[in-house]
Amino acid sequence: MRNISIIMAMKSEAESLLQSLQLRKVNRPFRSGIPFEVYEGNLGKAQLSLLVSGNDSDHHVDNVATVPAALMTYLAIEKFEPDLVINAGTAGGIAGRGCEIGNVYLSSGKFCFHDRRIPLPGFDQYGMGLYPSYDTSIIAKDLQLKTGTVSTGNSLDLLEKDMQIIEENRAIIKDMEAAAIAWVCRTLSVPMFAVKAITDLIDEDTPTATQFMKNLHQAATNLQVKMIEVLRYLQNHEG
Ligand code: ADE
Repeated sequence: MRNISIIMAMKSEAESLLQSLQLRKVNRPFRSGIPFEVYEGNLGKAQLSLLVSGNDSDHHVDNVATVPAALMTYLAIEKFEPDLVINAGTAGGIAGRGCEIGNVYLSSGKFCFHDRRIPLPGFDQYGMGLYPSYDTSIIAKDLQLKTGTVSTGNSLDLLEKDMQIIEENRAIIKDMEAAAIAWVCRTLSVPMFAVKAITDLIDEDTPTATQFMKNLHQAATNLQVKMIEVLRYLQNHEG
């Protein structure tokens, strides 16, 4: 894996990683109006590009969730032709399945959606997504990282029905981008996996937003440390 595109939603999740990788910002990477920020550089033998979603022009907050994530991934693949895409970011985790605040997970199994409920023949499975993650088992073993199935939805909070679907799919990590990115990667045959740092525990009583704000800084720091380890590992190993 020598040409890697990293897709990130929030600038605050990316800041410490951008600093430690010392990537340079690309001016006007896409046509006018596209808000995504693009950075590029190298780590050893690896050529890196890192995309962050930028701010919404009306609401002035990061362009989180599935729609910008899918477009950003498509544009990254068109521009950089990576041989691997990594979605790095924060996520919720299930305490009852061993997740702890600050843990960093590599994705395994299949990315699914928990909020695309389409009870029509065939569409029910389509709605669930189920796009493959690159097999991270060896990387996880060598770097002593946990692995888990990631489930994606467009909400930070959680409905009972969402939780039911997450559990049915045996997912333990809940985010807002990975499955959308995985759809683009599966469609364009580019291997992809996610690296997710846990900011909140979705089966605990404290509201997600409160936990998220409290733990974001710690999770982003842990994410940066583990991302560097993963990238160093990848640039030393042939894909
Ligand atoms: N990002 C961080 N925590 C999250 C959660 N609980 N759900 C979705 N995305 C998240």
